[in-house]
Amino acid sequence: MTERYILAIDQGTTSTRCILFDRRATVVSVARAEHPQSYPKPGWVEHDAARIWRDTQKLIKRVMASAGIGAAQVAAIGIANQRETAVVWDRKTGVPVAPAIVWQDTRTSALVSALDADFVRDRTGLPPATYFSAPKVQWLLDHTPGLRARAEKGEVLFGTMDSWLIWNLTGGKHHLTDVTNASRTMLMDLTTLRWDASLVDVCTIPQAMLPEIRSSSEVYGAADSVLPGVPIAAAMGDQQAALFGQACFAPGDVKCTYGTGGFLLMNTGSTPVRSTHGLLATVGYRIGNEPVAYALEGSIAIAGSLVQWVRDGLELIGTASEIETLAGTVADNGGCYIVPAFSGLFAPHWQSEARGVIVGLTSYITKGHLARAVLEATGWQTREVVDAMNADSGLALTTLNVDGGMTSDNLLMQIVADVLDVPVVRPMVAETVSLGAAYAAGLAVGYWSDLQDLRNNRHRAGRWLSAMDAGRRAAEYQRWRRAVDCAVLFAD
Ligand code: G3P
Repeated sequence: MTERYILAIDQGTTSTRCILFDRRATVVSVARAEHPQSYPKPGWVEHDAARIWRDTQKLIKRVMASAGIGAAQVAAIGIANQRETAVVWDRKTGVPVAPAIVWQDTRTSALVSALDADFVRDRTGLPPATYFSAPKVQWLLDHTPGLRARAEKGEVLFGTMDSWLIWNLTGGKHHLTDVTNASRTMLMDLTTLRWDASLVDVCTIPQAMLPEIRSSSEVYGAADSVLPGVPIAAAMGDQQAALFGQACFAPGDVKCTYGTGGFLLMNTGSTPVRSTHGLLATVGYRIGNEPVAYALEGSIAIAGSLVQWVRDGLELIGTASEIETLAGTVADNGGCYIVPAFSGLFAPHWQSEARGVIVGLTSYITKGHLARAVLEATGWQTREVVDAMNADSGLALTTLNVDGGMTSDNLLMQIVADVLDVPVVRPMVAETVSLGAAYAAGLAVGYWSDLQDLRNNRHRAGRWLSAMDAGRRAAEYQRWRRAVDCAVLFAD
């Protein structure tokens, strides 16, 4: 019998990836394309959604060609996507009405500060922040001439990247989103899993432009515009997909994905846990009609994108992986700390107005020390969200499962183990976001039979233990916190 595969599309912040997986969760073929980041004003970040759709079509064709397979050998498609980024497009022409506003964009801070924090948090599990989609859509409606009237008539549609891709893949037949992505809009009631009419109203968003909310794993429609007849059977926010791909199916299971940002999620089971320490209550996943699995999330806005800035903004390195070599030229940070509050500070601080700082500079500091401080920034930000997670859950983290592009940096993994003082474990398949989307799609079409089938695919590839003494850890953490205070003080 001819072998069949699952096609995962991972539409991320900096790139789009298409990966074919087989039944043993082995990566059979990969195609990847970076798309431009546009920074038209300080704090603004935009994407060209039409370009992302063109990339996706090319990558699907490329990944199939390199595996030498046709549509009949694809059992299903699963989508994972950068969350919160808002796209608004014309229902008739399919053309975006404006550049997509990316999750890191802070232009909506005035809209956000006008919101009642308790009102928003009670309904959505989220603190009001520029991070989420609703204020971005409101901003577009307020600043694009004629858009609000067209939205009220149902002529334009809003969606996160999952909706945008599903709409395009199905040739404009389906306008829907999954429950994990909907939970990041700041418009969905976390308990009823429906759009909350009062929030939709407060954010002045016409109901007619909102997608239908569906589970994360079910057949939504066929990808007729690219792979005729192939079912699209899953959509998940990329961080939730990584939770699923790491097989974090039991309450208490935790993973942290290091990509553009860093995202630590704990499965909290079938009831949402409302954070009192600056974390987000969010949807982990929903498989068909089964009860929803909730998650607690510590979101770090800037992790890999700090390395990208060192490469593209400062031009201190030629490739992202050189950061490890450069940081390895020194034994420590030389007293220098970098707090990368480029999009304000996310968890656990939620300070939209904070801005990045480099502190502790003396003539002694070299670019090696800066590189070291860059990697340590990811370590300390992880420590802050782990502390919040331990306090919220009443459980002490015992192991951190990690994945994502940055985990190929062994020095970074050692730093994370050092600052957390728990083992850090990396799985064999580092493309956990894509794997999670593939798993959810495969479950929907019977390619895999159950969660145990998926657990059996998990194999460990690396493990790091702390090598830092307790006194040094405590002193460094204190200095990091003082640096964070500087970033908050620097706010306008
Ligand atoms: O919430 C934003 C997150 O989904 C972005 O993930 O991997 O594209 O940085 P990533």
